[in-house]
Amino acid sequence: MTDGKGRRSPADHTTDVVVLGAGPAGLVLANILLDRGIDCVVLERAGRAHVETRARAGFLAAGTVRILEAHGLADGLHRNGKLHSTCEFRTEDGRFQLDYSALGQGEQHTVYPQQDLVSDLLNRFLARGGQVRFATEAVSVQDADGERPRVSVRETDGRPVLWQGRYVAGCDGRHGAARRSLPDGVVRRHRDHGVTWLGLLAEAPPSLDAVGYAVHARGFAGHMARTSEITRYYLQCERGTPAGAWSEERIWDELDLRMRAKEFGPLLRGRIVHRSVVALESDVLEPLRHGALFLVGDSAGLISPSAAKGANLAVLEADLLARALIDDLTAGHREGLDTYSARSLAHIWRAQEFSHWMIGLLHGPSGADGESLFHNSLRRARLASLRTSRSHQDWFADHYVGV
Ligand code: APR
Repeated sequence: MTDGKGRRSPADHTTDVVVLGAGPAGLVLANILLDRGIDCVVLERAGRAHVETRARAGFLAAGTVRILEAHGLADGLHRNGKLHSTCEFRTEDGRFQLDYSALGQGEQHTVYPQQDLVSDLLNRFLARGGQVRFATEAVSVQDADGERPRVSVRETDGRPVLWQGRYVAGCDGRHGAARRSLPDGVVRRHRDHGVTWLGLLAEAPPSLDAVGYAVHARGFAGHMARTSEITRYYLQCERGTPAGAWSEERIWDELDLRMRAKEFGPLLRGRIVHRSVVALESDVLEPLRHGALFLVGDSAGLISPSAAKGANLAVLEADLLARALIDDLTAGHREGLDTYSARSLAHIWRAQEFSHWMIGLLHGPSGADGESLFHNSLRRARLASLRTSRSHQDWFADHYVGV
């Protein structure tokens, strides 16, 4: 903001790092910074209750857990999370399970609802004296090219406020202020995978001890445990289907059909407590640094949920950026900040590649034309290879559980 004579208006608050967004990316970053004595603030558009109850992902890779452990942020997930290492494929050719703890590097997932992780990270940050401003929406990032970038913010009462820092971490997701403030010339690589899922949370215990992937002529269905009382299901649907379009009975009947419950055992039914429509899309921005502004997590790149990589990438990038910021702010070493974008993008593209491969494994066109039939035969061959080839299984395991 400038006055009528082009002078910058004074900032209302100053800190070292202004963190936008209190999701996994922003809160991991802020915790690591505060732990090393770096002054920071987290500005979050939503209220606290919303942030702590928003159901999202739930599968943490072993590498993610190691990062959280290294910073003392893993107590809750060790206490209440569940180790998980099996996935099951159900197709027209029968079913098979892969125990990925016995394949490849032998790593496992920890199943821990993302809102519980966010709640742990938040409580830890606040207990250490960290500052989170809820109901505070970042509007834009200004002067990112200068020494003193600023974030203009709208507080609950609508009052405009300016925060100034040495750096700004854009952890505010796909529609946040960081993305809106980027200069021209940022490259955005985008793909709409042309597939839509109805994402469901059921008040029902998991029906199998594995993540279930069902490939069916009527479309994909997925089963993922969250807790002993809550299970996440996915049902592929037509693009444009409203979230509320299907009755609970239709949802369960369709899940039964696609997951071949008659053949492989019934699904435990329960109330559908949350539903949303997820269009499988990916996009990645480049570079992830613009002067003093850095993009982290969903704001850096959106990944389709087919391989549950989103939250894991967010934690990994937050750790990379935190270490680079600490090196700069405590020792004047800039190299980590200079290479943050390239290092993060290398991880992001590996994850995108696997996630894209998973989409091809789990979905096929429904038509009976030659091209659809060809595609579906390739998919069956790919699944057959995964079912029978140990080297293919090792490759799968390492990519499935790694970031
Ligand atoms: N100002 C302040 N906060 C904002 C703004 C804004 N203009 N816009 C969005 N936010 C907040 C959102 O309310 C949210 O709390 O930024 C936060 C972003 O958090 P997430 O969406 O959880 O994104 P991130 O931390 O990058 O986590 C990665 O990948 O697969 C997904 O489910 C996974 O949510 C996870 C995400």
